[in-house]
Amino acid sequence: MPPLAAPRSIPADQAAGMLRIRKSLSWCYVSAPLYLQVVGGDYQMFKAPGLALQKTPQAGGHLPRQLYIRHQDKLDSILEVQAGVTNHLEQAIAEGGQEEVKVLLVDMVEESFLEPRAENLRGLMPVVKVLVAQYGQQGTAIRELALLANKNYGAAVHAVNVTALTLAYCFKQGFSTEVTAEYGLAGLLHDIGKLKIDDAILNAPRPLSPQEFAVMKSHPEEGLRLIRDQGFSRLIEEAVQEHHERLNGQGYPRGKRKISLAGRLIGIIDSYEALTSDERPYRKPLNTLKALELMHQETREGKFDGAVFKSFVYCLT
Ligand SMILES: [Fe+2]
Ligand SMILES: [Fe+2]
Repeated sequence: MPPLAAPRSIPADQAAGMLRIRKSLSWCYVSAPLYLQVVGGDYQMFKAPGLALQKTPQAGGHLPRQLYIRHQDKLDSILEVQAGVTNHLEQAIAEGGQEEVKVLLVDMVEESFLEPRAENLRGLMPVVKVLVAQYGQQGTAIRELALLANKNYGAAVHAVNVTALTLAYCFKQGFSTEVTAEYGLAGLLHDIGKLKIDDAILNAPRPLSPQEFAVMKSHPEEGLRLIRDQGFSRLIEEAVQEHHERLNGQGYPRGKRKISLAGRLIGIIDSYEALTSDERPYRKPLNTLKALELMHQETREGKFDGAVFKSFVYCLT
C-alpha cells in the first residue's frame, strides 16, 4: 500500500496527541512520518512516510534528541517497532551487547504497553521467541540481563526482568522451546492489568491505604479481561490471573489454594524481582540472599510451592 500523504508541518494548535518516540527505536519507524518540534511549538516533518530513518537526507548519522509521531500512526507503529526489534535483537544478542539488548527490550515493551490491545500484546511473542532461540544456548546470559540496572524502574523494566528470570528457570528445567516461549510471554504480560490502575495508586511513594490496595488487587482480573479469548494460551491466562494467589489461601484476587504451575512460578519470580529491584522511596531493594531468605520463610509459612522455589533458587546459582 503506498504511504498516505502526511502534512509537512503541523501547527501547534493542531498538534494535540503528538507522541514522543524512544530514541533507541527511532530507526524502526518506516510507514509513519516522524516530526521534529520547532520554535513556537509547531511540528515539522523530519522523515517522510514509507522511509527508514537512516535513508533520510536530514539524518546524516545525527538524530535529533526528540522525534514525534502523530497519534493516528501509533497503532501501526507499535507493530512495526516490535518487528524491527525482533529483527535487530538476534544480532544484538549474538554480538553480546547486553546493555543494548536490555534497552531495546524495555523501550519496546514500554511502547507496546502504551496501547495494550491484544494485537500489540500478541506481537511480543516473536520477540520472546528470539530470546529463547538465542539465549537457550548461552547458559547464564539471560539471567545477567535481569541484573542490568535501568534508569527508570517501572512496569516495562519489571516485566522484562521477570521474563529474563523466567526464561533462565525454563532453560535450567529443560522445558521445550514452545513451552519456554509461553512462560516468557507470561512473564511480560503478568501485570498487564496494572495498565488499568490509576497512576496515583501505582506510583504512590508510600504504602497503600486499604482502599487503594483493594483497587491494586484488581489488576490480575483486569489483566485477564484484556487477554481472554484473544488467542493467548491457557498458561498465560493462568499466570496473569494467579500470580498473586498463595497456596495457603492468603493471596488475591480469589484466595485460591489450588494454583496452576504458571501462577506458582510467576508468583515466585515476580516476588523475587520486586524484592530485589523495586526502588521505592519507602523501601530499599534487598540483595539476593536476603530476598531468598525472606521468601524461604514465606515458603515455610505455606505461601509458595517449596519444590518450585527450590528449583528457582537452583537456577540462580
Ligand atoms: Fe502483579
Ligand atoms: Fe509483577
